[in-house]
This record gives sequence, structure tokens and C-alpha cells, in this order.
Amino acid sequence: MRADSGVIQSSQMVDYKFDFGTGNTNPETFPSEAFAKAAGRVIPGLSESLSHYPGKYGHEGLRRLMADREFDREGVRVDPQNMILTNGSMQAITLIAQTFCRHENSCIVMEEFCYPGSVNAFADMGIDMVGVPCDDHGMQTSELESILSTLVSQDRKPGFIYTLPTYQNPTGTVMPVERRRELLDVARKFGCILVEDNCYADVHYDGEKPPALYAMASDVRHIYLSSLSKIFAPGIRLGYLIAEPPLLNEILPHRHDAGPNTLAAAVTEEYLRGQLWQHIDRTNAALKLKRDAMLNALETHCGNLCSYVSPAGGLFIWVQLAGSIDADRLEKEAEASSLRYLPGRNFHINGNDVPYIRLAFGYPSVSEIEAGIRQLAECMKRSNRD
Ligand SMILES: Cc1ncc(COP(=O)(O)O)c(C=O)c1O
Repeated sequence: MRADSGVIQSSQMVDYKFDFGTGNTNPETFPSEAFAKAAGRVIPGLSESLSHYPGKYGHEGLRRLMADREFDREGVRVDPQNMILTNGSMQAITLIAQTFCRHENSCIVMEEFCYPGSVNAFADMGIDMVGVPCDDHGMQTSELESILSTLVSQDRKPGFIYTLPTYQNPTGTVMPVERRRELLDVARKFGCILVEDNCYADVHYDGEKPPALYAMASDVRHIYLSSLSKIFAPGIRLGYLIAEPPLLNEILPHRHDAGPNTLAAAVTEEYLRGQLWQHIDRTNAALKLKRDAMLNALETHCGNLCSYVSPAGGLFIWVQLAGSIDADRLEKEAEASSLRYLPGRNFHINGNDVPYIRLAFGYPSVSEIEAGIRQLAECMKRSNRD
């Protein structure tokens, strides 16, 4: 059985007193009333479009808005005709794996710690994952080059390199510009497709924002994935994939779902158009308070039982447990305290046991974060062998 990806049934969610497991967003900043008004404005005009299947590209207005989002952040124009909307970026992840990993000896080269949704999807499709070691700056490009050389010498076929260069999940790392250049060079040298999963790019709190890989080179075979899950709401299930026509035309025949949800896309566009960045600023400000509350609570209560780095963006703190902590015991103690986090092995492409846990801070309230981390510290103390 594969590891828990973090996405649990809503019925289970209420079971945990402290849920730091899933990368959910902040319910307190969801604009219920304004969203209802947007629905009221837009639905009367949708009888035509809702009577059609959406097709492979999906709602044009939302694609234009997301192309503007990418332009505003990166300064590079994206043609909405090169974008398809998907049922969350997760659908795009499975679609590209289905498209580019059809050979018996296909594999995906990726950060050795990664989002479990992707790891589980690739594993389920029987695709081999080849891990690239990571450090505080993300995927190690020197290792990537030697891994690709070895794969080529073994006649194995990397379908693509899959990377999360900005606010990596789970580690929170940001790949510096120089290393991004190296990564592009390696992809170019091996003629390998580069898949950039950038769903956290706009969940930004402090520090520099390096450019996206697609904004740094136009001569690399590049597929870009992003989402509305982290800036708006995961329940909306809207993500997108951007690729130039030769690659996009390879992907499209493998899409068989008749297209993404027109209603969700139309109402979301109606709400976000004209205030996308104000909305993002508002949600990020609230998330930053939660991040800081979690960091403060860890510092106050957990002392030298663990270590971590403050993430400049994203929704997670990747916590290394002190060597004296019995990680299995900690899991049992947390479960008994109705406290949920995801253990490090859930993120390792081979399920290796690693002395880390990932804490998600987007969904719980500040007071739940403070009480929950105090509780976690108690669990750590009970699991301490010293
Ligand atoms: C790195 C990464 N990619 C993709 C996804 C999938 O997001 P969605 O399908 O909601 O767009 C997630 C969700 O947590 C993620 O962390």
C-alpha cells in the first residue's frame, strides 16, 4: 500500500483535534459572500456554455486570467492557446506521465523527496522513479547530470525531469538562479523534457523570488504546471498545464475526461478578475501569521528536540527530528493525542524511513497551531530516548 498523500476524506478531517497533515488553505480567508455574488452574476449567462462539454482546453476566460497571472509574475507572455485547464494540477501530473512514460524502460527523474500525490500516481502507473539528492537549494544539478548519463548508458528512457524549484514540497527549499541555469543546461544537454511544478509560486512570504524556469529559457522542452488550489481553494479543483504546441499536441490525445469544470472556472474567473493580486496578498498575509505562529511555537516548546528552516513560501515546515527521538513512538503518541502530521517516509520516492516530519500550517487556526505544537512537543518529550 502507498503512503498517505495527505489528502484525506473530509469525514476524517474532523476526527483530528490538531490536523497538520494536509496542504489545505485557510478557510478564514475564503471569500464566501463575494464568491456567491460572483456566482449570481455569472450563472445566468452560462446556459450556452454549460450545455456543451468543455473540451480539452477549458474555459477561455480563466485561461486568459491565468496567462496574465504568469505574465505579472514572470514578465513573459503566455499564449492561453498553449494552456489547458485541468482538474487540479494533479490531473496534469498524471496526464504527462501517461503521455511520456509509455516505454517499458521509461522512468521519471525527480527530487528524492517529493509531493506524495505525484509519487503515488507515478508508482500506481508502474513508472520507475529515479531520485536526485536535494540540499538546502533543492535538486542537486551535478548529481542530476551523472544520473542522466548513467540512465542513458543503461538504455533507460527518462520520460521527463520533474522538479519543484520554488517552495519545494515537502522541504520548502527555493532553487537559486544559478542552479536553475545549471538545471536548464542539463535538460538541454540531454534533450530531456523538463516539468516544472510551480503550484506554490505565489504563496510567498519573504525573500527573493527567483524566476520560473520557463521564463529563463525558450530552447528547452518545458512543461509548466500550476494551480488555483494554493492561492484560492483546493476544493475548486482547477489547475493548468502550459506547453508549446509540439509537446501540447503530444499530450492532448491522452486527455479523455471531456474537459474541466466550466462552472467552477467561470465563477472563479468572475471573482478573481480585477483583484487576483489583492486576493493573493490577503491570503498570504493571513498564512504568514500562521507560519510565524508555528515557528514561534516550535521554538518555544520543542527546543532542541528538532530543527527546521523558516520557509519563505508554501504551506509547510519540514522538521528534522533530533537523533534521540524515536520516530515510531512519536507517531503513536501523536495519534493518541489526536494530532496529525505526515512522516518523512511519505515523501521519499522509495518510502525510506527518514527522521523528518512535515507540518502543514494553512488550515488550522492560530490558536490550534499554538495548542497543537505544544501538544507535539509533549509527544516528542515522551518519545525522547535521552
Ligand atoms: C507540489 C504539488 N503539486 C501538485 C499538487 C496538486 O495540487 P492540485 O491538484 O490541488 O492542484 C500539490 C498539492 O498539494 C503539490 O503539493
